[in-house]
Amino acid sequence: MFSYRHAYHAGNHADVLKHFVQVQLHQYMNQKDVAYTYIDTHSGAGVYALDSAQAVKSGEYLEGIARLWERDDLPAALAEYVKLVRGMNPSGRLRYYPGSPYVAEQAARPEDRLRLFELHPADTRLLVENFRKLEAHKAEQGERARGRRILIDHADGFQGLKSLLPPPSRRALVLIDPPYEVKLDYKHVRDALEEALGRFPSGIYAVWYPVLQRMESRQFADRLKRLPAKEWLHVTLTVATPGPDGTGMHSSGMFILNPPYTLEATLRETMPYLVQVLGQDSGATFRIEKGSQVTGTASPRALDTGPRKPVGNARRASPLSGAGSLRLPGQPFGDGPRKRPAQGEAEGPAAPAAAPAKKRTPGFRYADQAKQATAARGPKRK
Ligand SMILES: C[S@@+](CC[C@H](N)C(=O)[O-])C[C@H]1O[C@@H](n2cnc3c(N)ncnc32)[C@H](O)[C@@H]1O
Repeated sequence: MFSYRHAYHAGNHADVLKHFVQVQLHQYMNQKDVAYTYIDTHSGAGVYALDSAQAVKSGEYLEGIARLWERDDLPAALAEYVKLVRGMNPSGRLRYYPGSPYVAEQAARPEDRLRLFELHPADTRLLVENFRKLEAHKAEQGERARGRRILIDHADGFQGLKSLLPPPSRRALVLIDPPYEVKLDYKHVRDALEEALGRFPSGIYAVWYPVLQRMESRQFADRLKRLPAKEWLHVTLTVATPGPDGTGMHSSGMFILNPPYTLEATLRETMPYLVQVLGQDSGATFRIEKGSQVTGTASPRALDTGPRKPVGNARRASPLSGAGSLRLPGQPFGDGPRKRPAQGEAEGPAAPAAAPAKKRTPGFRYADQAKQATAARGPKRK
């Protein structure tokens, strides 16, 4: 049950997609004065050392964050995410990578609350230790601690989510990011969302998932589309053509229920660049689709005013409202489902010289997962 350790995968292409979207979601939530609750159902260790035995062994971050690290031509949304990562690496060397709890800690405001769940005993200890060090570091810098801002629970995140909804301020951002080691995780996510939407329909719910050959993965997004949320937005990033044996995780998706209205445009602007920089072969591509609940009237305006409960499971969806891929230099456009990229998306700018690293105040040392006695290498999410 506890074979998955995110330390092997920290900073890979899937984390880049997930965390860059997460930063966008926080920024949207931050626009209103009212505080919100961030709920992380599957938190992991919070911070990862990229020179740990696990990260070095898998080398996955080299195909993810490392490819963005020195770029100085990042689109605005990616620049914000990379700035956050650079902030925890003041020496200018990419050594630490933030997990979703740390991204939330940095991107949310002091008045917002973080509720973090993690089931693995060792990762829970690391998570607690990392936040203890962060708080100590902040205290040293003269920052006032906010007693109950961050609560960490060694508990099942699906159950934890249930217990926290609706949140006191009636504003919540939820990230659901299980390992999908077991097929049941797909069902658990869907069921948890159904229940969560029943308790708190207006929350923003973001789900990460691996795009794999297995049936549960292939059907997953379609199942989420049938949930009774007002709107959804779905983005996938594929970095390479899947091998004939179907092994490896080359593609992942973020499915967002009740997405910020600004997010689709941000994704359209950013995904071509990600494909260009993270793409490993001509199979690299992205896909954006969105949909909204049909409330019983033909007019889309009814979405704003209509009842929350859908009429049956009918939905209005734009199945391919934005799909594209980027040709790597010298590569032909491939056949298959990918379309020739839209004008302006076709080729990204050439890789620039490395951006000079900015000097920052020295940070603290995070709990080092390399020192933890760990089980065998965490499997790729499958
Ligand atoms: C993919 S990792 C999370 C990564 C983290 N969200 C991030 O982006 O940095 C999944 C985590 O979920 C934990 N986990 C597995 N089942 C769980 C459950 N039912 N409740 C809470 N945590 C769980 C695993 O131990 C693992 O640390």
